[in-house]
Amino acid sequence: MQLKNDLILRAARGEKTEKTPVWVMRQAGRILAEYREVRASVSGFKELVETPELAAEVTIQPVDLLGVDAAIIFSDILVIPEAMGLEYEMVEQKGPHFPKTISSEADLSSIKIASDEDIQYTIDAIKITKKRLDGRVPIIGFAGAPWTIFSYMVEGGGSKTFSKARRMLYQDPKLSHKLLDLITQSTVAYLKGQIAAGADMVQVFDSWAGVLPPDQYREFSLKYIQQICQEIREVPITVFAKGAFFALADMNNVDCRTVGLDWNMDIEGTKALLPTKTLQGNLDPCLLYSDYDMITAETHKMLKRFDGHAHIANLGHGVYPDTDPDKVKHFIQTVQNFEKP
Ligand code: CP3
Repeated sequence: MQLKNDLILRAARGEKTEKTPVWVMRQAGRILAEYREVRASVSGFKELVETPELAAEVTIQPVDLLGVDAAIIFSDILVIPEAMGLEYEMVEQKGPHFPKTISSEADLSSIKIASDEDIQYTIDAIKITKKRLDGRVPIIGFAGAPWTIFSYMVEGGGSKTFSKARRMLYQDPKLSHKLLDLITQSTVAYLKGQIAAGADMVQVFDSWAGVLPPDQYREFSLKYIQQICQEIREVPITVFAKGAFFALADMNNVDCRTVGLDWNMDIEGTKALLPTKTLQGNLDPCLLYSDYDMITAETHKMLKRFDGHAHIANLGHGVYPDTDPDKVKHFIQTVQNFEKP
């Protein structure tokens, strides 16, 4: 199907574009009243993820309501551990919880390498979204990076320090590598399934990259991200490693097209470190709590800083749930109305 707006794909390939494409991490769900309405019609978050018609509907909402240049499929990174054999619960107001976790070699025998068919609901949601979007904007598929998924499978939920997951890397590196390898194989199959279903590009979220020391990050995270990038040749791939400023130069050795920057990362410095990569980001999501003039000024400042480099505009992490959607829309329109010098 011919895309009517392929700006983000051209920027991801490193081409010069007339405008800077823009989307917002976590744009589907969270901030829109229209999302909360759909969410209230089902028993919980998981039912929404697992009902392809509804997942497609909330995927398209930000395209209609915010005017973003890409749709990201409504799902979660936690579908992978579940497909491998560790079910999760999404606890209201608290976040994810895994009743069963991995702490020993014996636990590995209770999990398997997942195939894309184990996550058929998201694959189907992509197919429906593709049809309904009718080429208006590209679809972004996604998965968690193996290290971030490993953290959930070992910790059983979120954590301030991730010390259980970090401890395992020292106490049992062999077990850690085995688990990371199983996650990596599952993730490759899942991403390939998303692409076959219609995802035009994919993003790997390494949300907890920033908790590891640099050497360990290379050994236990980047190595597996690189394996994924080597396998995914069909579409442009973005790596977003939150907090991993220490690994930016290493991204030159990773076969991804785009590198996501969080708001702590220095734009000029990163441009110099990564001359051939497209860069994505990187406004502080808290900017969107300020007034319209401040949002305009800071967005212009960011766009000028990225000038001369292939760029996809975004926030430096997911939009916060209590952000006013009109402010998000203002950010998007400011990018789209910006005349490149
Ligand atoms: O980007 C999008 O809008 C698409 C959908 C999407 C969700 N989760 C839906 C969701 C995406 C891309 C994710 C990724 C995700 N999930 C990450 C990586 C990105 C990041 O923010 O670092 C992580 C770490 C998770 C795990 C997760 N899922 C947590 C910690 C929570 C609870 C707190 C929260 O973020 O809201 C979720 C739940 C979740 N995933 C919600 C949504 C819309 C909120 C649940 C609800 O509607 O009740």
